[in-house]
Parts: sequence; structure tokens; C-alpha cells
Amino acid sequence: EKGKNVEYSLTAQAGTTELFNGYETKTYGYNGNLLGPTLRLKEGQHVTIHLKNDLPEATTFHWHGLEVSGKADGGPHALIEPGEEKTIQFTVTQQAATLWYHPHPMGNTAQQVYKGLAGLLYIEDDNVEALNLPNDYGKNDFPIILQDRAFVEGKQLDYSKVANSDGTYGDTMMINGVINPVLKTDKKLVRLRILNGSNARNYNVHFDNDMAFTQIATDGGFLNKPQKMKELLLGAGERAEILVDLSKVKEKHVSLVNDQNVVLLPIDVSDTKSAVNASTKLNTIKVDKALLEQQPTKVVKMEGMRENVTINGKKFDEKRVDFTQKKGETEVWEIDNAITDEGGMIHPFHIHGTQFLVLSVNGEKPEPSLQGYKDTITLQPGQKARIAVKFPYEGMYMFHCHILEHEDNGMMGQIEVK
Ligand code: C2O
Ligand code: CU
Repeated sequence: EKGKNVEYSLTAQAGTTELFNGYETKTYGYNGNLLGPTLRLKEGQHVTIHLKNDLPEATTFHWHGLEVSGKADGGPHALIEPGEEKTIQFTVTQQAATLWYHPHPMGNTAQQVYKGLAGLLYIEDDNVEALNLPNDYGKNDFPIILQDRAFVEGKQLDYSKVANSDGTYGDTMMINGVINPVLKTDKKLVRLRILNGSNARNYNVHFDNDMAFTQIATDGGFLNKPQKMKELLLGAGERAEILVDLSKVKEKHVSLVNDQNVVLLPIDVSDTKSAVNASTKLNTIKVDKALLEQQPTKVVKMEGMRENVTINGKKFDEKRVDFTQKKGETEVWEIDNAITDEGGMIHPFHIHGTQFLVLSVNGEKPEPSLQGYKDTITLQPGQKARIAVKFPYEGMYMFHCHILEHEDNGMMGQIEVK
């Protein structure tokens, strides 16, 4: 119900997890040894979260995609030292969406996420029921956290041995913290809430039988209407919700795969019951036409590779405020993934504390998968996007490349919202 007070406790802790038979891999997790619980919040709720750091190192708790004040956002300024506790409070004022949480200490985010610190944060609202979507958690509505890892020496996640300044990749896929899982279901229609929780890898998710699926939500909420597609690009930090019709799958087996048909998630289908007809009108997002004509008031130029990554030619400095913006005012930002003499690469660009709308990519109308609320946009080298950005709360917020090693290397700036 609206106005309800809810309380959670979240402890970041170190432990071990048996990911391979007979091996104990050292991992980090929230309230457990790997990843964290899925927090389910509802629009209108007053939320109190008791945070505790039981790690041997400082960390922060960042709510990726959540619209909260800078004080509650958990960016690099909000360090919690080992053994320390902190309580934050906020009210949920945004629509239903699949968000996530992860640490954000300057220079150390990549390593902590790599070891297992990440969890999902679902926002629900009153409209969700009416949409008639699969929303039975773990039955027909599945969280799918995609992460690639490299295990070394006794199956350890030894970040320092595998770290790469252009993004750390691994040859082993973990789905929800499990290696080689199989999704078994008897449902005809399933909803997959996919999070790219990898440090750097991009996924071009599709099915091995090339069947179509339907995207219903982007990072920050539902699309206006379901969009049929056969593949979907997700850069680091991005989410998408898709509906998959399993009723026509032959041999009762299909796999969600990445490029080169690398298997992400095999799905075994038994008897398919319970059809759900999702409603066709999911959201009422309107892009203000005037914004399409407007010149950008902020330009973010992402450049470089490895240690040379910068935003507008600069590295992050926690004492420097790069931009300011008025609370509640919409500005057009231009995000430029520039190609330099060094070349270029994909950078997923993320802003804290806001869900933005994509106005254009290289001057064109954005494709369907970018027509919902976004907090992260994956740009190819040479692409420029214009986005409409509004912050509902005040405070200091980060904007950065979500390749975690680029973020740690200073490909980040900060904006003060007053
Ligand atoms: Cu998902 Cu600044 O982060
Ligand atoms: Cu980057």
C-alpha cells in the first residue's frame, strides 16, 4: 500500500562459495557470500535501509537507476569503512522498473563487483497488475544477471591477476552467480529481467533458434508498447525485460545466447500451461517535441582507451564539480563517443539519480529498445546521442562510463543538482 514504511538491512560481507565441485572460491556478497537479495520496493513507500560493511575494505552502496537525493545515492563520496554502519532513507517516487545495486568506491568498484557485490532492486507500482504480465518471481518472472568471469589458481576470482584497464573479461559465464544453470519451466510465456552486471562485456542477446522475443521494459520502466525483436544489445549496467513465448519451441529446448552462439542460458520447457496475454499498452511516455529542436546545454565527450580514458578531456576529481543543473528542469545533453587517433570503442554511459529519455542517436530517432526510460546508454564508437535529463532530487551525482575499469580510471564526472 502507498505510504507504507519498509525497512531492510544490507551487509556487505566476504565469504566463500562452492562454484565448482570441491573448490571454495573467495567471494563477496550482500547478506550472503555471493551477490545480494532482490529488494522489492513499491512506488510511494518510505524506505529505510541499514547498511553495514563487514568487508576488509571500504565500500559504498549505490542504487543504480534509483531516483533519490544525492545523499542516499551511494556514490564515491559515501564511503563506509570496514566495520562501519550507516542508515539511509528515501521515498520511492518512480514507476515500476528493474534496477540494481552495487558498490561505487573510487578506483575500486570493478574489483568489488567482480568478486560478487551486486543485487537487483525491483520497483513495483499500482499499474503492474493491470498489465497482466508474468510477475510470479522465480516461476514465470526470472531475474537473469549476466556476468563473465575468469577463474584462476584453484578457481579463484583473483582480480589483480586478470584485471584489464579496458575492461576485465572472463571465459566463464555466471548467471545469477551460478555456472552452467538451466532454466526449467512449464510456463508458456516467461518474463526475463536481464541485467548486464558484467564489468565490461557487451551482450547481443538472442536465441539459438533465432526466434523473436518481445521487449517490454528498458532500464527505467516499461516501453509504451511491446516491441518484437530478434536480438538486443546490452552494455555493462543496462537492463531489459523481455517476454519469451515458449509454446512454439521445438524439442522443448532453446538457449539464450550471445554472439558466436555462446550459451548464456539454456531453457528446458516441459508442458506449457497458463497462457498470459500481456496488454499492448504498457506506458505513456511522451517526448516533448520542443526538446527535439533544442541545442544541447551540456556536452559529454567520452574519449580514449585503457588508462587514457577521459570525459571532456578530464579525469574524475572528487573536488571538481563538472556540471550543475536545477532540480526538476529538463536539459538536453549530448553524449559523444568520440573516435580519436587511438581509435574508439563501445562505452556504456550512465547517469546517477535520473531516468532519461533518448531524443536521437546520430540525429535519427532512437530504435525501439531505446524508447523507454534509460539510465545507461551504450554507444558505438562515433555515435552521438541526445538525451533529455531531469533530476527530481538535489545533491551530487556521478555520470560515467559503466565499463567499471574505465570508471575506476577516472572516466567519470560529477554534477551538482540544486
Ligand atoms: Cu551502476 Cu555509477 O553506477
Ligand atoms: Cu568506457
